[in-house]
This record gives sequence, structure tokens and C-alpha cells, in this order.
Amino acid sequence: MSPSVFETTRLTARPMSPGDTDTVHALMSDPLVMRHYPRPWTRDECIRWVEHNQRLYEERGLGLWMLTLRADGSVAGDCGLTIQRIEDEDEIEIGYHLVPKLWGRGLASEAARATRDRAFAELGLARLVAIIAPTNEPSANVARAIGMRLEREMEWRGRPQGIFALDRGSIIASP
Ligand SMILES: CC(C)(COP(=O)(O)OP(=O)(O)OC[C@H]1O[C@@H](n2cnc3c(N)ncnc32)[C@H](O)[C@@H]1OP(=O)(O)O)[C@@H](O)C(=O)NCCC(=O)NCCS
Repeated sequence: MSPSVFETTRLTARPMSPGDTDTVHALMSDPLVMRHYPRPWTRDECIRWVEHNQRLYEERGLGLWMLTLRADGSVAGDCGLTIQRIEDEDEIEIGYHLVPKLWGRGLASEAARATRDRAFAELGLARLVAIIAPTNEPSANVARAIGMRLEREMEWRGRPQGIFALDRGSIIASP
């Protein structure tokens, strides 16, 4: 078992490894989880996603991490940081996906808050964004819960998206 990256009251975050491919695929091929994405992901896309995150851990100390419930060790989803190109800028995006049976319990906000704090305090990042479809109210609520605000709306990769953002300097005033 990989060492944890961080722990919250109810969750443990640890690096993804190729052994997580089936779990990641079960999550990212679920049409409910992916209803704000162009389409659910194939197994090959999930293999590449795990590899991409492993590269980010190695090269940048970033990446999305697997989340497990501390109560029973079961997989809760993923959460973490990735790099996205937005209007010629490389931005660091916070991302999260939870297994549907765990939605609505504040778990995503708990994981996102710890990810935000790690990004600013340990990685020294100055700014975080979240690219969120206008219809994805649960995700927008998570972003707002950690102090992010809708900065602008734009077409990104051919689809309308809201760009939520948070600067490290404004964190003192946020929850
Ligand atoms: C986005 C997602 C991670 C949220 O998970 P979650 O565990 O339900 O989030 P939380 O319980 O922390 O809820 C955060 C806020 O959203 C609200 N919320 C939860 N589900 C909601 C829903 N269906 N509709 C509206 N608001 C909702 C909660 O009440 C909470 O608001 P509050 O902070 O004002 O109390 C989850 O819906 C998911 O995995 N979605 C699919 C993947 C996805 O779209 N990821 C984001 C890509 S941008």
C-alpha cells in the first residue's frame, strides 16, 4: 500500500498506481459520474490517466490521488491537482470525482479543502482554478465551499465552462 499524501477527518489520499486501474475505470466509466463530461472514459483512457498522474507526482508533486474512507478503507473516489491550458496559460486545476453512493455528505468539500491547503502551504502555488460545466451545480458548490469564485465563462475544449479561481492571498478570508 502506498503512503498517504494527506488525511482528513474521514478520508485518506494516496497516490494512484496501475493496480487502481479497475477502480478508476469503474468510477470514470460511470455515466452518472461523467454526465458533465463529453462521455464516459474507456479502460485505455483510464490506464493513460493513471500514468499521467504518476508522471505528475514524479515531476511536479501534483496529480489526482485516490481517496479511501478511513472508516473501512473502501474507495471513495479521487481528488487532487492537474495542469490545464487555459487561454495560453498553464493553470493548476483542482479536480474531484466521488463514487455516487457517497455524494452529498460533504466528502468532496473535505478532500478539496485539504488539497487546497496542501497546494498553497506545501507546494507554494499562488493560484488554483476549477473548470466546471454551467450545469454541474454540485461541483460549483464544492468550489465555492473552499472559497473559489466564478471568474469567467468561456468555451473550453469546445464546450461552455465556468472558470472558478482562488488566489493564495485571498485564502485568509475564506473558510
Ligand atoms: C462534484 C462531486 C464530487 C460533489 O461531491 P459531494 O460529496 O456531493 O460534495 P459535497 O457533499 O462536499 O457537497 C458540496 C456542496 O454541494 C452541495 N451539493 C451536493 N450535491 C448536490 C446536488 N446534487 N445539487 C446541488 N448541490 C449539491 C452540498 O449541499 C454542498 O453544499 P454546501 O457546501 O453549501 O453544503 C460529486 O457530485 C461528483 O463526483 N460528481 C461527478 C464528478 C464531477 O462532476 N466532478 C467535478 C468535475 S468539474
